[in-house]
Amino acid sequence: MASSDPVILLENVYTAYEGADRPTLTDISLSVGKGEFVIIGGPNGAGKTTLLETINGMLPLTHGKAVVCGHDVRGNGVGVRRRVGYLLQNFAFDPLTPFTVEEVVLMGRFGTIGLFRKPGKEDHEAAKRALQLLGIEDLASRPIGQLSGGQQQKVLLAQSLARDPDVLLLDEPFSNLDMFAREAINCLLSRLVASGIAVIIVSHAFDDLPDCRVRVVVMHDGRISLDRECLPADVGLLIRNAGSASLNA
Ligand SMILES: Nc1ncnc2c1ncn2[C@@H]1O[C@H](COP(=O)(O)OP(=O)(O)O)[C@@H](O)[C@H]1O
Ligand SMILES: [Mg+2]
Repeated sequence: MASSDPVILLENVYTAYEGADRPTLTDISLSVGKGEFVIIGGPNGAGKTTLLETINGMLPLTHGKAVVCGHDVRGNGVGVRRRVGYLLQNFAFDPLTPFTVEEVVLMGRFGTIGLFRKPGKEDHEAAKRALQLLGIEDLASRPIGQLSGGQQQKVLLAQSLARDPDVLLLDEPFSNLDMFAREAINCLLSRLVASGIAVIIVSHAFDDLPDCRVRVVVMHDGRISLDRECLPADVGLLIRNAGSASLNA
């Protein structure tokens, strides 16, 4: 993959859930380069999560083309997921989950080390770095199910980072986080973007965005209704205006 190639390239993509009588995503075209920070807005049910799942090769395309990190998602979803960190929306561990925080973060390496290989020294080092980036080294040996929702969210973000991804997909990562954690994560995200990682984030929190150029993508009813670069301070207004324009349409 040449360095100027987009890390995410969707062309006229349609995605349908199994058994659905119409596609959930309709004619989506999106090209994202290295180090771009993309915030995805739009009302509940607009297709934001479906878009992330499509980029991550988890849903079959019924039409169009999707190439992520140089891999065609149709034929090589596994190759895509090795290079992509994906933080699921509203994921919570069962209180009895039998893994420590460190083990959960190490699982982020499985794309790299293979499901049946024991983690090596490099894997442990990558997991430790990820825990440090999130400032949660002190939680390493705690059972994951006994942490608060916000702490679990940080662990899952560390898990996504442990694989040294080229693309980070974050689905409403701030929903459980207090103001201090949000600020710390925004600061981390600006550093990741500066290091060349493409960050795609679904969020309804428009304050304290990372201090970098932001691209706003707004979705309505499975389509992209706005795709524009702006300053962090203008994101909320752009998304709100796009929302009221579509309500009046
Ligand atoms: N697993 C699924 N099976 C069938 N339909 C689904 C599934 N998940 C989501 N949908 C539908 O797809 C549409 C978009 O959902 P989603 O991508 O979750 O929206 P958003 O993340 O923007 O709130 C909704 O109409 C939703 O009901
Ligand atoms: Mg969603």
